[in-house]
Amino acid sequence: MIRIAVFASGGGTNLQALLDRFNGAGHRFARVALVVSDREGAGALERAARAGVPGQVVRAAGREPEELARETLEVLQAHDIDMVALAGYLRLVPAPVVQHYRNRMLNIHPALLPAFGGKGMYGRRVHEAVLAARCRITGPTVHLVDERYDTGPIVIQWPVPVLADDTPDTLAARVLRVEHAIYPPAVELIAEALHLGTGVLPFGLDDPVAFSMVRTPAPSEADVRRALGFR
Ligand code: GRF
Repeated sequence: MIRIAVFASGGGTNLQALLDRFNGAGHRFARVALVVSDREGAGALERAARAGVPGQVVRAAGREPEELARETLEVLQAHDIDMVALAGYLRLVPAPVVQHYRNRMLNIHPALLPAFGGKGMYGRRVHEAVLAARCRITGPTVHLVDERYDTGPIVIQWPVPVLADDTPDTLAARVLRVEHAIYPPAVELIAEALHLGTGVLPFGLDDPVAFSMVRTPAPSEADVRRALGFR
C-alpha cells in the first residue's frame, strides 16, 4: 500500500475528496495514512478523525526552518509515508522535506499557474486577482512541489469559465468543485507510479509536463459537467 500524507491548514474539502477516493471503500494500492496541519483547530483534522486517519499538528509559525524540517520528516517517517499531497497548506514546505519527497509531493492551486501564483497568492486573493485581470478562463493546477511557492512541474490543469457576474466567492466555489474532481486522480497517478515501481516518470520521459500530456489523469466528462454545475 502506498501511504499518503495530506497537509492541510484549513477546512479540508480537498482532503475530503482524497479520503472519499482512497479510504471510503478502500483502494487497490493507496490510502491516506496521515493528516498534518500547522493549525490546532483546522477542520481538516476533524475530517481525518471522522475517517479514522491519524492527525498530527506540526506547528510552523515562528520556528526555525531546520527544526521544522526535522520534526516534519520525523512525523512522516514514523507513519511510513510514501508520498505527500498538499491540500490548502499555507506554509512553504522546508527544503529538506521537499528533497526527501522529490517528485512524490503534489500541491493543488486554484488558478492556472504560472499565472496568479507565488507567495501570498492563496484563497480569496487568487480569485480577486483573476477577476481584476478580467480573465475569461481560470481553473485549478496540480503540480509537483519544489522549493518555492507554486513553481514545480505541472501535472494537470483544468479550465473553468469566469462568468460575467462572478464574485470572488462564486468563482472560488466553481473552481473548488473542479479541484475535487481533478486532485484525486492526479494523486492516484503518482501513487500508481510508486506502487508499480516505475518511478514517477514512466515511458522513459524525464519531463513531467510532457508526461502529463501523455497520461493526464483526466476525470470523466460526467464528473467535470457536474463540477461545473451542468446537469
Ligand atoms: C483550495 O482552493 C486549494 O486549491 C488551495 O487552498 C484551498 C483549500 O481548500 N491550495 P480546502 O481546505 O481543500 O477546502
